[in-house]
Amino acid sequence: MKNTGIILFSIAIAISLCIPSFAQTSTEARFIQKADSIISLMTLEEKIGQLNLPAVGDFTTGQASSSNIAEKIKAGKVGALFNIKTAAKIRDVQKVAVEESRLGIPLLFGMDVIHGYETIFPIPLGIASSWDMELIEMSARIAANEASADGINWTFSPMTDVSRDPRWGRVSEGNGEDPYLGAQIAKAMIKGYQGDDLTLNNTIMACVKHFALYGAPEAGRDYHTVDMSRQKMFNEYFLPYKAAVEAGVGTVMTSFNDIDGIPASGNKWLMTDVLREQWGFDGFVVTDYTAINEMTDHGLGDLQRVSAMALNAGVEMDMVGEGFLTTLQKSLEEGLVTEKQIENAVRLILVAKYKLGLFDDPYKYCDLDRAEKEIFTPANRKIARDIAAQSLVLLKNQDGILPLAKKGTIALIGPLADNRENMTGTWSVAAKFEKSVSIHDGLKNAVGDKAKIVYAKGANVVVDSLFESKFSIYGKPTYRDNRPADVMIQEALDAAKNADVIVAVMGEAAEMSGESSSLTNIDLPENQRDLLKALLKTGKPVVMVLLAGRPMTIKWEDENVPAILNAWFAGSEAGDAIADVLFGDVNPSGKLPATFPQNIGQVPIYYNQKSTGRPLPEGQWFQKFRSNYLDVSNDPLYPFGYGLNYTTFEYGDLKFSSTDLKGDNKLQVSIDLKNTGKYDGAEVVQLYIRDLVASMTRPVKELKGFQKVFLKAGESKTITFDISTEDLKFYNYNIEFDWEPGEFEIMVGGNSRDLVKGKMNWEK
Ligand code: BGC
Repeated sequence: MKNTGIILFSIAIAISLCIPSFAQTSTEARFIQKADSIISLMTLEEKIGQLNLPAVGDFTTGQASSSNIAEKIKAGKVGALFNIKTAAKIRDVQKVAVEESRLGIPLLFGMDVIHGYETIFPIPLGIASSWDMELIEMSARIAANEASADGINWTFSPMTDVSRDPRWGRVSEGNGEDPYLGAQIAKAMIKGYQGDDLTLNNTIMACVKHFALYGAPEAGRDYHTVDMSRQKMFNEYFLPYKAAVEAGVGTVMTSFNDIDGIPASGNKWLMTDVLREQWGFDGFVVTDYTAINEMTDHGLGDLQRVSAMALNAGVEMDMVGEGFLTTLQKSLEEGLVTEKQIENAVRLILVAKYKLGLFDDPYKYCDLDRAEKEIFTPANRKIARDIAAQSLVLLKNQDGILPLAKKGTIALIGPLADNRENMTGTWSVAAKFEKSVSIHDGLKNAVGDKAKIVYAKGANVVVDSLFESKFSIYGKPTYRDNRPADVMIQEALDAAKNADVIVAVMGEAAEMSGESSSLTNIDLPENQRDLLKALLKTGKPVVMVLLAGRPMTIKWEDENVPAILNAWFAGSEAGDAIADVLFGDVNPSGKLPATFPQNIGQVPIYYNQKSTGRPLPEGQWFQKFRSNYLDVSNDPLYPFGYGLNYTTFEYGDLKFSSTDLKGDNKLQVSIDLKNTGKYDGAEVVQLYIRDLVASMTRPVKELKGFQKVFLKAGESKTITFDISTEDLKFYNYNIEFDWEPGEFEIMVGGNSRDLVKGKMNWEK
């Protein structure tokens, strides 16, 4: 009996991989049939060619870039291309594929459209701070519209790598430390890019990346080794990727990293067992940039061997490295791979092209009139400005210094306060950087002739010019000033002399985070702190606007600067959005999607940690033989979910529909929220659950819901969360997904630390 079950299960899996399962729509079945009829006409070379993704253009993130592209396209040796844009250029290249290759198969055109195309939204870590899924979806919709107007039909986004390590430069590209928030954002982004109908000419295919665990490299160093328990993977790191698959993402990108000894791009357990068999992914898998070739450096053999390994693992498309192109034929002859495997890969890629409608009209994204009308439009920029303002997080506002009045003299100081090019942040490849709104522009636009803005740079981003040259790249200059530091500080003090208030723009440059931009020190650079100290000494009120692509260690600033507005990199409209918040035209409501540590030694520090056997009692700093440090408390500087507002909110008591539930009943938890301040404003009400007793250790709290609620000054509202047993489920020690009966703690509040708590019992 048992064996029969296993055989039937295997057949079902085999069938689902090769031919349409019952769940697949008839459209998909038709695409598969059509793809198969093309495959029957293809030579082996042409089949392997479909698996090849070369890069064109100047922007590369690796060593290799491909050559003789046109010849290769004609010979059917290219399935997709990336880093080429404009409808005219893409039309020309598509024409070569369609008219000059033997079978005329259209190409996919990819690009890293990560947080906007030319209209740039905040970096993903920033946009996550809005906790507003409608706005996030809208940002992806606009990005898809602009990219598609420029010929692009495939974006390498969303990046959903959970990360708890602010040293890692790519925290900026992800949505922070929380799997639940990350999963909601992944779904919203995919909906925005792909819409409901991929055959339209303004929806594009999404690619969730980097599968998997790329955000957990040892020591926060990019591309470094990942080694973690399966329980941690499934419960804490996989959720956003899985949510992306459930949302119908068209493609998945492998990650560069090693995972427990097998790099992702050659990891069959990951790509086939988990992704396809457990999660039912039916699109295609593309590698990251030369990730197959890199398995040689990982120590897994020569290019032929690692390419065969990748195909065997379940990878369909090879980005840039041409390992598939140059070795699969030999591997086939030597029996390392089968032709059936190659055909399965081709089929998935052709089906993606059918889904996009490229066989019906290969030029559907090449309307030469669209770009001018649809890219970087005032309407798109207006939405980007609104979204940017929602992404800003007010970290401190002593004595209500903010909002500022539009009057008197405002001194604007800082290395990037008058810089347009750095406003978009990392990974904004299609942006025209000089068109962004600098903070200087934004402040001037906001005050008009009501107030005077005086500006001085005051300091370079960092003292070390070699260091600076490493991040003044990709068209984002930092305009280094070679005068001595004290001369620049004096100039800033002179500028501030007659000012009523000082706005000090401090922090990182755009490319101090992002790919291959890991740091071992995430403090504010020392020379900027010196400038800040000098400004504070004037005794004038100082507001710090922090530019950051990661959580930074700003304990000294928190202790000494009266107001801090964390602006991340807010995109092409950054300056106007920052001014909107500084002057109170928009009341800030952003909440941190990642913990800010007190110092680097606390990393990794995250809210959903587990309890040790010797937890420190709440509210205490140190006790001997408890889990803590001698030199610093266990507390973060700012917890996950934290962010102030110009108004204040008061939470009432928790009310439970029942404190004793059985089976699949639903629990309703409600709480009264009152805006007790004098401004209208929005609050992100967060729901956390702790499973108090389980068969394995569980986090002290996990985000399970949130609602962004707008209340007028003085207004109250009852907020209700519906909780079901789905919210209690987790992967147990045997990686079975279920909930366990017993006591649960339910917590609601405006951040992960300050919560109203109650307990209830839920039996099976
Ligand atoms: C990055 C990917 C990106 C790819 C293509 C790689 O270096 O890791 O995120 O999509 O380059 O540009």
